[in-house]
Amino acid sequence: MANQALPDSVTIVEVGARDGLQNENSVSTQAKVELINNLSASGLKHIEAGSFVSAKWVPQMADSYEVMSAINREPNVIYSALTPNLVGFEKALKANANQVAVFTSASQGFCHHNINCSIEESIERFAPVIEQAKAKNIPVRGYLSCVIDCPYEGPTHPDNVAKVARALLDLGCYEISLGDTIGTGTPVKVARMLEALMTQVPASQLAVHFHDTWGQALANIYQALQMGISVVDSSVAGLGGCPYAHGSSGNVATEDVLYLCQGLNIHTGVDLQQVARSGWQISDELKRQPTSKVSLALRALNK
Ligand code: HMG
Ligand code: MG
Repeated sequence: MANQALPDSVTIVEVGARDGLQNENSVSTQAKVELINNLSASGLKHIEAGSFVSAKWVPQMADSYEVMSAINREPNVIYSALTPNLVGFEKALKANANQVAVFTSASQGFCHHNINCSIEESIERFAPVIEQAKAKNIPVRGYLSCVIDCPYEGPTHPDNVAKVARALLDLGCYEISLGDTIGTGTPVKVARMLEALMTQVPASQLAVHFHDTWGQALANIYQALQMGISVVDSSVAGLGGCPYAHGSSGNVATEDVLYLCQGLNIHTGVDLQQVARSGWQISDELKRQPTSKVSLALRALNK
């Protein structure tokens, strides 16, 4: 596997308020607003703030309109939301999302369980969303789940990842976020998948989205950074998981990614202490501990 120099800077896409809170006990709209406001003060440039999906499927995200209408927006920060179809896109527009994301899977089984259609049908549903987004100058991100393993079908062939990623880009997504949805990836598996994918898609159009179920996310991120990727999704305090991937735990914690980047001398522009404070507040609200080791270490130092 061909490693190259590490990037000088990394963009963090903070997904805690969406990917995190979609799989935690419900918290109040006010607590979500405070979380996003606190994160906005940390220097983060992209905060996923909600999800316009069916409330029957994901009740925790039912107040995304209220949340996005109440937050204090920092200029130059992108506040984005998930939109699986046109119904969701129209709601996201009303809520003033600066960016939206469509989401599908590299495996059919997960696609059916998550959005109730095949991969091909999902791409058909996204076409009008992307068309309308383009007309309104709203960038569209594409999420691709199960890029390593699927909870219903086992290992995902890297060629499937490359095929669906290419289709999403051809449709008009500006970037593909590669989801290790159940967090089973290891650096060698990640490298093999990226190698296959990068024959079709440049690293500059890829982001990584590692759930940390098996504790490998930081090692996987380090591998991806060495292969030219410089956009990393993470979740404050390591909140969350995916409701349609049983046993999947939260994303890699933002605090842990920031500490890794600091140690590698990679610029993120994000204040680790402020993210950690945001994480303690929402964790107290949820009556749980952050899963982030960095957060716990900082909290012990601050006591
Ligand atoms: P469906 O049942 O096939 O669709 O669901 P439908 O069009 O027949 O609609 C069913 C009902 O939902 C109708 O209401 C629609 O109006 C309503 P009813 O008549 O029953 O009262 N509906 C909506 N309501 C609000 N917003 C909408 C919307 N669309 C339809 N946008 C659907 C299809 C996609 C809606 C459903 O499957 C769904 O909402 N799935 C969401 C699943 C989800 O949010 N999963 C978590 C996010 S993905 C993830 O976490 C992975 C990621 O992090 C990457 C990774 O880690 O791998 C991104
Ligand atoms: Mg996820």
